[in-house]
Amino acid sequence: MRRCRANLLFDVYVLNRFVKILKPGIKVQIVYDEIRKIDNSPLKQHLKRRKHKKIINGRAGREHYKLLTYLGLQLQGKFIVELGTHHGLSCLALSVNPTNEIRTYDIVAELKALHHLPSNVTTVIGNIFDLHEEHYLLKADLIFLDTAHTGEFEWQVYSYLKNNNYRGIIVYDDILWSDEMVAFWQKIDVPKYDITDIGHGGGKGPRGNISGTGVVDFSNQIVIKRSPENSIVAKIEALFRTLVGKG
Ligand SMILES: C[S@@+](CC[C@H](N)C(=O)[O-])C[C@H]1O[C@@H](n2cnc3c(N)ncnc32)[C@H](O)[C@@H]1O
Repeated sequence: MRRCRANLLFDVYVLNRFVKILKPGIKVQIVYDEIRKIDNSPLKQHLKRRKHKKIINGRAGREHYKLLTYLGLQLQGKFIVELGTHHGLSCLALSVNPTNEIRTYDIVAELKALHHLPSNVTTVIGNIFDLHEEHYLLKADLIFLDTAHTGEFEWQVYSYLKNNNYRGIIVYDDILWSDEMVAFWQKIDVPKYDITDIGHGGGKGPRGNISGTGVVDFSNQIVIKRSPENSIVAKIEALFRTLVGKG
């Protein structure tokens, strides 16, 4: 565990060169060019499987892990809740900054991807509402939700946050994954941003949809600085998304 902690500190040093310090009054900024520059390759040493080593450093806009690392680096001394731990990849990306505390939930114990659990991560097995631990959501500066993608749990969390005057930020993975998720995303009536083009643009939903990533800003303080990617791959993907109506 001590070795893992030391390595994560080194990772933060390497990765942090690209992330600008926040100006006062801005809770989170999402600067596309900074996210593209994130290098997640030092995180590979914490992963057991070759497939996971490949996707953790996958291109922003295809995989969402660079976005999560970027958010984790930008927040300092904050509390992050993750819903949907699975093998632990997203939790690893969120945990790169040791000043933050991460509490991650899954209904199944499947944390198989990591050699060691980062020391700033607490894992909990169960549904946060069934465990009567939903108050942790209100404490969190950032929530990352990536669960069953039926739209029901996503809406339950959203309604709870809205009804309880939440003031942070929630990132939803897979907002384009299925018709149910698209309907869920359309119903949200606080400031929201589809940031698939810098998040999870890969993946394949039941009808061949891409995954999609969205951020909901209960804080009213997000600053988003978009910039188009110049690579030919990104241009073809953007064109494809437009043609299939996901642009
Ligand atoms: C797509 S995986 C998460 C992947 C992970 N976030 C990542 O990017 O590496 C979805 C996970 O959500 C879990 N899950 C489903 N419903 C849940 C709930 N209500 N609360 C917490 N986890 C849930 C599933 O067991 C599964 O492990």
